Amino acid sequence: MIIMRLFSVIEIYFQTCSTLSSFIFAGMRIDILTVLPELLESPLQHSIMKRAQEKGLLQIHIHQLRKWAVNEYGQVDDYQYGGGAGMVMMCEPLAKAIEELSGERTYDEIIFLTPDGKMLNQKIANTLSLKENLLLICGHYKGIDERIREHFVTKEISIGDYVLSGGELAAAVLVDTIGRLIPGVLNDETSALFDSFQDNLLAPPVYTRPEDFRGWKVPDILMSGDHNKIEDWRHEQSVKRSSERRPDLKQE
Ligand code: 6GU
Repeated sequence: MIIMRLFSVIEIYFQTCSTLSSFIFAGMRIDILTVLPELLESPLQHSIMKRAQEKGLLQIHIHQLRKWAVNEYGQVDDYQYGGGAGMVMMCEPLAKAIEELSGERTYDEIIFLTPDGKMLNQKIANTLSLKENLLLICGHYKGIDERIREHFVTKEISIGDYVLSGGELAAAVLVDTIGRLIPGVLNDETSALFDSFQDNLLAPPVYTRPEDFRGWKVPDILMSGDHNKIEDWRHEQSVKRSSERRPDLKQE
């Protein structure tokens, strides 16, 4: 019970912080380099990402990499040295694009989305949500020339152990998970404080009207009006769910 009260106090503190910080925080800017801008546009134009941008807390700039192509045909990829199927994204367009954008602002991180990167989790998202300028690079084909990774990229992120056709959907996932954590984006109704994973626990089950659907009832406790009991029940459910479904999530 005391812990839940402490949570409420922390939450009020966080809300105050986010209200205050939305006055002083200029917002985050995310630049994305891609050969398929269309794949990224729609997922970032709705719901919370839309609101974040409308509130001026998040700016997303999607750049067509072909703008920095090596020739008039818009070429950005080439055959790989040593042979083998699949094209590799060339150094020159990426280097030129990164240098041009870096000349306009200083990036806190230059992130390459790749299946061999570090697996994205809530902790990484929390950390990145406090940055001001991020540059994301979406790879395609066999990947990007290793020299770009060595000399420009500061972080490599994967969104899971499976292969996507390109980095765009992964970039959309990354932007969404970071964007919603930017101070001031969520309100108390959508607060991230009790999200799954935020404290290494899964979220508890939720219910809405009707109270009885086809004889399937809402747990009595939720109808009791006793907020302390409800908070305790929710916490228990979170712990139960986490240990049953995700015993790998570490409890500090
Ligand atoms: Cl970041 N990119 C690609 N192409 N596939 C992935 C991924 C990223 N994360 C998981 N699979």
